[in-house]
Amino acid sequence: MRLLFTRALDPEWIEPLKDEHDIRMWTEENIPMPRELFLKELEEADGVFTNLTDRFDVEAFERAKRLKVVSTMAVGYDNIDIKEATKRGVSVGHTPGVLTEATADLTFALLMATGRRLRESIDYVRNDQWKSWGPFMLTGQAIYGTTLGIIGMGRIGQAVAKRAKGFNMTLLYHNRSRNEQAEKELGATYCSLDHLLARSDYVVLLAPSTDETRKMMGPAQFQKMKSTAHFINTSRGTNVDEQALYRALTEGWIAGAGLDVYEKEPISADHPLVQLPNVVALPHIGSAEVGTRREMVRLAIENLLLGIKGKSLTHIANP
Ligand code: DGY
Repeated sequence: MRLLFTRALDPEWIEPLKDEHDIRMWTEENIPMPRELFLKELEEADGVFTNLTDRFDVEAFERAKRLKVVSTMAVGYDNIDIKEATKRGVSVGHTPGVLTEATADLTFALLMATGRRLRESIDYVRNDQWKSWGPFMLTGQAIYGTTLGIIGMGRIGQAVAKRAKGFNMTLLYHNRSRNEQAEKELGATYCSLDHLLARSDYVVLLAPSTDETRKMMGPAQFQKMKSTAHFINTSRGTNVDEQALYRALTEGWIAGAGLDVYEKEPISADHPLVQLPNVVALPHIGSAEVGTRREMVRLAIENLLLGIKGKSLTHIANP
């Protein structure tokens, strides 16, 4: 069986597979495989180890005549046309669960960095602007005892809520359906999106990227937020109307934003949102913690090997 790895992985992962499989691997860890080469390699692949930057659309599936499984090292799989995969009998594996805590840590770190203006404060020192202490110099917003609104109360939402409990935050959430566990165990209150936006000091977006959530945060939503509130997005950039967010940040509708994801990734330094002083912008590092990434690779290889044998995957994205 031929296995295609679209990013370079260390030999420790690849060597054990070589006896039984014909391995093809892109040479770079931090640069995506060029699309043409990717499509060419797909023609002979039985299974693919992928990540969120490879697009598995109709064109890709057309070329992949032998393909049995696509295994992505991510919880999100919006880069893969699941309907098309299912129609063609291709299993799609993903890696939920193992990145919950790391992503919740990063979400909370981003919330704190945004609320307390860490980016501006770091620049202040680096740019040699710090000449004295000032009563209101670089003052931000409180975190302890404030209200957190979580949009998308899945695994990661609940893990963020647990952290917020330690900060004595009041928890509101909005979700496709009610999450009784979150209500019972964390004291989170279910409410409409409008109510959440109007009441929260921090709004954290953790909804998956679907047709329903595309640009779910637009002008009307940002206008409903408090002018002192902060918006944090560690889900997918496509869930946000970035032009509306820009207006919200520059016209004082909201106080700041912490972003790990963008409509089109990667962004460059001249992206309008990045230049704003009230934005903390990170390069999609939600799950970027060593142990977590190792677990994601391990699980994605497990799904890949199960998939090429036609067995059921540990975590499958097909309905
Ligand atoms: C995911 O898993 O979907 C993240 O965005 C990448 O870690």
